[in-house]
Amino acid sequence: MADVWEAYRDDLEGMERQARTNLDSSVTLVNTVAAHILNSGGKRIRPFLLLLSARLCGYTGRDHHQLASLVEFIHTASLLHDDVVDDADIRRGTRAARKVWGNQISILVGDYLYSQAFCRVVEFRNHAINEVLGEACKKMAEGEVLQLYYNGNPSMSEAEYLKIVEHKTAGLIAASCRMGAILADASEAQQDALFRFGQHLGIAFQVADDTLDYTANGEHLGKTLGQDLREGKATLPLLHLLHHCSEQDRQMIIDRMETRTLTEEDLGRFIRLMEELGSITYAMDRARSYIAAAQQDLNQFEDSTAKRALSVTADYMVTRDR
Ligand code: IPE
Ligand code: IPE
Ligand code: MG
Ligand code: MG
Repeated sequence: MADVWEAYRDDLEGMERQARTNLDSSVTLVNTVAAHILNSGGKRIRPFLLLLSARLCGYTGRDHHQLASLVEFIHTASLLHDDVVDDADIRRGTRAARKVWGNQISILVGDYLYSQAFCRVVEFRNHAINEVLGEACKKMAEGEVLQLYYNGNPSMSEAEYLKIVEHKTAGLIAASCRMGAILADASEAQQDALFRFGQHLGIAFQVADDTLDYTANGEHLGKTLGQDLREGKATLPLLHLLHHCSEQDRQMIIDRMETRTLTEEDLGRFIRLMEELGSITYAMDRARSYIAAAQQDLNQFEDSTAKRALSVTADYMVTRDR
């Protein structure tokens, strides 16, 4: 993956420059809080996909840097809000903004970043872009609400889990890919193919993320391990475990979800059970099947550097360790 990032270094730097330029509030605290999270080492997956999608469709201009930076603003806003919703202490390996400045500031700076993104997006005077991005933001909020609705519910079905994932994560990733294609004036068929590519990749990305919550090295991941279960959130590996473990273990998991009292020892036991009963393998196999579908979506494009980069990025979604 490192050489793919390197090959598009100019585009990525252009995107970063725009992000800095867009942080221009006259209220210094807004810029300070936003910069704290923006500069703390995000992977920039969504802007990168937008840049590559534009290049794949033959885009030769420079406006994609700005659009990509705005997608990262929206993603960052969603993280500021999400960490309040999830009571998270750590984000991107550093103290979550809400731990430094409190929940109120986090929510409001999130609102600022959303609003700033839309103020700048409308300057493109492109109705399709406005529409795609607006839809993605709505979906993200719906996904987060749906997840809260199912919180603490161990009987959630896999279809319900996938609906949450598709809304809260895949929507913005798919929109990023489509916006790159729109900017490049690509055909409807190409826009649709890239949107589907982003959807498949986005679902795989979140399923892998939910698995990393049990299997990763916490320090390297930059988040607290076991956080989903601690919050009462059932994700794919846990749903598999709940269906395959003994009744006694099932009751123990449900108790920890309900009472939010997960100890390190409990977590260790559940991870061991997940490994023994194939829950980790099951979830990662599902993620890999979505990546295989994403790779198919690229079939209609002719071979190019950008196509290979998108393909490598898709594979990275399920091989990454952070
Ligand atoms: C975190 O997204 C939120 C999820 C949808 C899992 P990323 O894993 O892309 O976060 P950063 O931007 O790299 O920190
Ligand atoms: C990320 O969701 C937030 C959005 C996609 C809006 P999660 O709560 O699953 O992700 P992390 O673990 O906090 O990054
Ligand atoms: Mg969270
Ligand atoms: Mg969340």
